[in-house]
Amino acid sequence: MKNELHLRAPGNWINDPNGFIYYKGKYHLFYQYFPYAPVWGTMHWGHAVSDDLVHWEHQGVALFPTKEYDQNGVFSGSALEADGKLNLYYSAVRYLEKDAENIHMAKNNHFVTSQAMVVSEDGVHFDNWKDKRQIIPVIYDEERAHAAHTRDPKVWKEGNTYYMVLGSTCREETGRIVFYTSKDGVNWEFSNQMTDRRLGRILECPDIFKIDETYVFMGSLMYISQKECGYEHHAVCAPAEFDPARCRLTLREEFEYVDYGLDMYAVQTNLDKDGRRVMIAWMRMPKAVKEQNGCEWNGMMCQPRVVEVNNGHVYFRVHPEVGKYFDAEVPSFDKLDFSQPFCLRTSLKEGQELNIGGYRIRIENDAVYADRSQVFAGLEGYSLTGRTPEIAGECRLEIFVDRNLIEIFINGGEFVISHVVYDIGKYIETSNFDEGDIRCYSHRSS
Ligand code: FRU
Repeated sequence: MKNELHLRAPGNWINDPNGFIYYKGKYHLFYQYFPYAPVWGTMHWGHAVSDDLVHWEHQGVALFPTKEYDQNGVFSGSALEADGKLNLYYSAVRYLEKDAENIHMAKNNHFVTSQAMVVSEDGVHFDNWKDKRQIIPVIYDEERAHAAHTRDPKVWKEGNTYYMVLGSTCREETGRIVFYTSKDGVNWEFSNQMTDRRLGRILECPDIFKIDETYVFMGSLMYISQKECGYEHHAVCAPAEFDPARCRLTLREEFEYVDYGLDMYAVQTNLDKDGRRVMIAWMRMPKAVKEQNGCEWNGMMCQPRVVEVNNGHVYFRVHPEVGKYFDAEVPSFDKLDFSQPFCLRTSLKEGQELNIGGYRIRIENDAVYADRSQVFAGLEGYSLTGRTPEIAGECRLEIFVDRNLIEIFINGGEFVISHVVYDIGKYIETSNFDEGDIRCYSHRSS
């Protein structure tokens, strides 16, 4: 099965991107996968590969529970190349109390988590029996981490040291980041932890990386907004200071959202083949899409985005590989094929509005305002609108429209708003500005 631009669940359920890496001439993207129904359940790692970050080919299941320590789920993690092999690091979940009516859920949230790895010789074969090992047993020391909620190892190498950052919590009240180091990527030692209210109540999927000389922190924070907003957990980022010698992280007072549509979660980054820092993340969907053949799927990835830091602000730019496939200009809206992704480029001013099949974008009080209320299948309890911080009077837009996802890059990625949509219409309308000011580009599939 193949996907273009947005990797989607190949049926049933996916959530976080895992093990995103350029390895032996191909991009590999693994993902949290429940292969049996379009709902969250016992986690596996699904696997897809790509030559260009745009065309993805699903490879089936790579990792699944086989050991006592991961019998209830192979949770999120990351990939690293070491001695030509592909190391996959993940969180291994074991339930302590089972729900007799649903073996895919822990009863009373009673489970423990350890960290484990799998080594693959080639990125094609994964021996779930022979090549797994537990590398950090369950941590029962409350001063260090939490026995259940310590997860999502992101591993990287700097100098001669391997670093692992984990999301965790202090008593499920305050978010915590935990650091381990290693000399060989296999034997790990606890290094440091930091507990901070800015990390929500539980931190998930942390990522720390350097762009030029600036470190950036990204993470998914649990319970940072009210239930009424639809989602209580959100992905944030900010430049940070990091001292690798002591694993000391200094956070900024305020974070930015990675994406102002607030559907995005569980961001992960790695380098592309040219050394750019690229981010990919899960787009949460409140309901599954049912295809005409009856197949149901829930969950997809955003398009890959290039991360840059400029004047202390984190930018998410369109990846040049994506840009390449949207170079065929279409003379008018009527010629656009809504069954394929397409791209619109325009500028908007205060008071102007663009309506893409019921999805409306306008400028209000110097901010970009996007409204999906007409194309969200009447779903209640989710946020229907998204807005950016102030844009200082400038609004250049690059808008990617796919069947179930709209992504708006504002001022070259200064801010991005991405929204899941369900019933986008096949028309484009403008108000208070000229249609001639919009350029349309269709998607070329090769
Ligand atoms: C984030 C997350 C991770 C965990 C995974 C389980 O969405 O909760 O923290 O590893 O999903 O599927």
